Amino acid sequence: MTLKRERVSELLKKVPGSEVLAKGWVRTKRGNKNIAFIALNDGSTINNIQVVCELKNFDEEMMKSITTGACIKVTGDLVESLGSGQKVEISAKEIEVYGTADPEKYPLQKKGHSMEFLREIAHLRPRTNTFGAVLRIRHAMAFAIHKFFNDKGFCYLHTPLITASDAEGAGAMFQVTTLDLQNVPKTENGEVDYSADFFGKRTSLTVSGQLEGELGAMSLGNIYTFGPTFRAENSNTPRHLAEFWMVEPEMAFYEIEDNMELAEEFIKYLVKYALDNCADDLKFLNDMFDKELIERLKGVTETEFKRLTYTEGIKILQESGEKFEYPVYWGVDLQSEHERYLVEKHFRRPVILTDYPKDIKAFYMKQNDDGKTVRGMDVLFPKIGEIIGGSEREASYEKLMNRINELHMDTTNLQWYIDTRRFGTAPHSGFGLGFERLLLFVTGMSNIRDVIPFPRTPKSAEF
Ligand code: 4AD
Ligand code: MG
Repeated sequence: MTLKRERVSELLKKVPGSEVLAKGWVRTKRGNKNIAFIALNDGSTINNIQVVCELKNFDEEMMKSITTGACIKVTGDLVESLGSGQKVEISAKEIEVYGTADPEKYPLQKKGHSMEFLREIAHLRPRTNTFGAVLRIRHAMAFAIHKFFNDKGFCYLHTPLITASDAEGAGAMFQVTTLDLQNVPKTENGEVDYSADFFGKRTSLTVSGQLEGELGAMSLGNIYTFGPTFRAENSNTPRHLAEFWMVEPEMAFYEIEDNMELAEEFIKYLVKYALDNCADDLKFLNDMFDKELIERLKGVTETEFKRLTYTEGIKILQESGEKFEYPVYWGVDLQSEHERYLVEKHFRRPVILTDYPKDIKAFYMKQNDDGKTVRGMDVLFPKIGEIIGGSEREASYEKLMNRINELHMDTTNLQWYIDTRRFGTAPHSGFGLGFERLLLFVTGMSNIRDVIPFPRTPKSAEF
């Protein structure tokens, strides 16, 4: 009977006493002239399985070719391990080398490469403990997002990535075109002739799936969309990517309080899911990078988020006596230093700020009776600042149109959106969670480039 390959995660849980087949990449090899100990990892867990080889049983040249980074296939007996750190190990009987990794050239030799260096070799960094852990947690969080919404009866709506509208009105979009940039067709008055372009109009990559998400909520009730979004902002910070993933639920008949309730429950669920399902990876990150990580995660699942208005927040900041780099006054768009002051110093817990000045928020937010503020909400987190942005939406056709006109917005590509307010309009709300911001919090990594496999940032689109 041929042996079935088992993954390292499974082998480490097995009772000793049977013959096993393992395949994976060599993390380290050490030993003496009689025996070699190989630490083998196949990505299924942060833990390695130890392979013990009595050198007299193996070809010398073959053994020499097994170095850090090489890929091997091992058949042997699973036995109780006498060494510390593991319960079982493989006593090797046969080894086949699938692929060598020249020690002169393979970059992942010594431990403790800098995160900056690892970014330059993003094609190999998933083979490090750190990135293995981060990417497994990333997967677990994506799965938990779908589970959370599925269990609540939300419908996963696939909103388009190519769009002719600008959801946030921010104008920082990547254009999508098949026009020949060396020879752009022009109209009679000298403007680009987009009618000659692929879609017959000017199109871009989406900054948010929300507007189409609202159409979903106005028909299916509760929806969420979860996919990549794109922003051409020239923000070279540890919290911004040009391509990032966003989760956006949108719910009919939810008012702002229901929206806040859901946002808080959602984040707590995700953090708890990580604690319950990613224990080994979190322990590794906690020990290596951030000794307070696990405590901080537990803390968030247990504390109530503090809710207050933007106006109250501004007052606290102004009275704080703190020296901020950016000045604080009513109407200012808060910087992450302000957000973090409220979260980390003042309240010492996550904060939900509501009722922002209308001029710093998007056109679709529900207008308050004061004529100055809108029913927006931002969830602010320790070390991150804004992790969620959302709002109750303006359901009134007249009020929405007034705002659109006030902002001199072009409605040509927005009629479909405006139709939701013309036909069976209803109160509704939603929010967007930045998936990589969540991962920054859950993994304790300090740069957003290190929680996505292949980061896209200004002047950088490698791999
Ligand atoms: O606050 P934002 O811009 O909100 C929206 O896009 C709404 N349409 C969401 C909605 O109501 N459905 O973005 C939402 C979140 C932010 O809170 C932040 O976590 C993340 O997306 N985000 C970014 N993450 C990484 N890199 C960037 N450049 C980001 N911009 C926003
Ligand atoms: Mg925002």
